Amino acid sequence: MRLGVPIISPSILSADFARLGEEARAIEAAGADWLHVDVMDGSFVPNITIGPPVIKALRAHVAIPFDVHLMIAPADPHLEAFREAGADVISIHPEAGPHLNRTCRRIRDLGAKAGVAFNPSTPVEAIDFMLEDVDLVLVMSVNPGFGGQSFMASQLRKVQRLRDMAERAGLDIVVEVDGGVTPDNARACLDAGATALVAGTAVFKGGQSAYAANIAALRAA
Ligand code: DX5
Ligand code: ZN
Repeated sequence: MRLGVPIISPSILSADFARLGEEARAIEAAGADWLHVDVMDGSFVPNITIGPPVIKALRAHVAIPFDVHLMIAPADPHLEAFREAGADVISIHPEAGPHLNRTCRRIRDLGAKAGVAFNPSTPVEAIDFMLEDVDLVLVMSVNPGFGGQSFMASQLRKVQRLRDMAERAGLDIVVEVDGGVTPDNARACLDAGATALVAGTAVFKGGQSAYAANIAALRAA
């Protein structure tokens, strides 16, 4: 898994869904490190997107790791299917089930990296006593459900807190920011301690010929 900093993880949610394979190939060719896949169930969040069959179909098109963000509850019954479909990182929200630690351990047992995703209102304490079982934390800088929303600068404090927690514990945890990320706020995210940036709108705007420049603009921050 490539771990240069920052890791750029474009969100497929902003792609043309009628041409997903081609879009994924274009994103990989444009220099993306990971592909962020937003999975929504219409219940945990008010939108419905894609599931394991689509991820499996996409897997054949690109080699970069799939960074799968599960906005579904419950998540536990579906972990294996997402892993089998090709997920390399699987992030779940603490609100998705009663046993966050068991879920993270299960994700690792399946051979994927375990991520914990925080809504803007979710405090970081949920992982205070289980940092060693977490590979990635995902700080949502919008309320989950839709692409194209405005970045919430209030979440930078959470990025900082999580980064401090990981450093104090001496753990190499990826700190990912997701939602409304643009070249204008990417620097602030990285300064706060982010090591991975998810971006949908900012990467997919302008069509395929613009993807490389859009990714480079985020990296340049
Ligand atoms: C929101 C998703 C994000 C989002 C990113 O629920 O988790 O990944 O689609 O898209 P932009 O960058 O457009 O906010
Ligand atoms: Zn996401």
